[in-house]
Amino acid sequence: MPVKATLPELRDVDLTDLEVWVEGVPHDWFTLLRNEAPVFWQDEVRGRGFWSLTRYDDVVAASKDYETFSSETGGTSLMDLTPEQIESRKSMLDTDPPRHTRLRDIVNKGFTPRAVNAYEDRIRALFREIMSQAFERSELDFVEEVATELPMRILCELMGTPLDDRRYLIDLGNRMLGNTDPDHAGEEFVADRADLARYAHLPFSSPAALEMFEYSQKLGDERRREPRDDITTKLIEADVDGDRLSVHEFNLFFLLLVTAGNETTRHAMSNGLQALLEHSAERDRLVAEPALIPTAVDEILRWAPSLHHFRRTATRDVELHGGTIHAGDKVVLWYVSGNRDETQFPAAFRFDVGRAPNKHLAFGMGGPHFCLGAHFARLELRVWLEELEPYLGRLELAGSPARLRSNFFHGIKALPVRVR
Ligand code: HEM
Repeated sequence: MPVKATLPELRDVDLTDLEVWVEGVPHDWFTLLRNEAPVFWQDEVRGRGFWSLTRYDDVVAASKDYETFSSETGGTSLMDLTPEQIESRKSMLDTDPPRHTRLRDIVNKGFTPRAVNAYEDRIRALFREIMSQAFERSELDFVEEVATELPMRILCELMGTPLDDRRYLIDLGNRMLGNTDPDHAGEEFVADRADLARYAHLPFSSPAALEMFEYSQKLGDERRREPRDDITTKLIEADVDGDRLSVHEFNLFFLLLVTAGNETTRHAMSNGLQALLEHSAERDRLVAEPALIPTAVDEILRWAPSLHHFRRTATRDVELHGGTIHAGDKVVLWYVSGNRDETQFPAAFRFDVGRAPNKHLAFGMGGPHFCLGAHFARLELRVWLEELEPYLGRLELAGSPARLRSNFFHGIKALPVRVR
């Protein structure tokens, strides 16, 4: 069969087909889009359609230009929402400056490199304990035994929530961020199949958000009575233009921090281990040369960013690469595609643990929403690899990973691993 017959064509591209994403990231579609249709109109069955930006430079430029590509006008989720629904789900992530700047200032200090580095010893001790237990077994699910445990333990310390609540918070996070996967959301709440209009005012259109609000409200009440040195207290005591956050604003902020910091880091570890075990020469290189760990962290984030995209809304007409994006149109920034853009990354389809420079888009790039937890995530991932080193040479995949049904979140639900 001629090679050309197997190459995709633009009319094949459907980035909303979640069954495709279960099989793997459709990199052949993204390569086609970067080459032939860098501003690509995507129809949606359950929406009014969106523009896809897939080239590195375009994603960075749109991230920077928040006045033209707003996070506030239509929110950052792909769903079409009414202005009331947008308002009711609006966390810091869904605001533009100047409001965004004022909200981010409340928590910024807790996430500086200095504040974050103070956690290194605790993170290391936790990883050492978790991995020494997990790798005693000859076969395990890495997601369940290792990747799920650590990020939420650290978040519990940051937010000041009891450690025993972590499994409950993880479960709520799974139900929200896995809102298009029946295994996580539950069949009746799968966002692209069920009619979830009654939940559209909630983050991720998920009823689990209500449970999270109930939880955070109780914790907030406790901190109001008895302040502590944690981020929850900072949110409760915050002064935004002479006002405190309302209870609802506080709940949304809490939910944002707990969800943004948990599964992203979890999936980076699972995607990272999968990449290392599938590229055994690079794994062996890393084992032989641990000094490569910092570059390996960034290569993992480039190779398989935990978030595939975020949405923006155009506030004015924009001419780009011969197409016209109209005011009000949805625009999707595909980090996962920009990370394989050959004009930015030589041999972009080669997994290279020594890659430098590596200005990937996993945390966004150049805009006001650049990941607040990037230092935290890098620290967690670096220490994870350092503590994984003694085992890494003896690990192999024991089956195929179970992938999340999502075009938003690059999730791995299970990763069977064998210890030799
Ligand atoms: C590997 C792990 C992580 C990845 C891949 C990741 C990725 C991202 C991305 C892509 C954005 C949006 C960037 C943009 O729109 O320009 C973001 C924002 C954010 N991230 Fe992360 N993140 C990770 C870990 C964390 C952690 C550990 C926290 C800590 C709690 C965190 C908290 C946040 C918050 C609060 C925002 C919103 C920032 C804003 O709106 O100003 N993230 N992250």
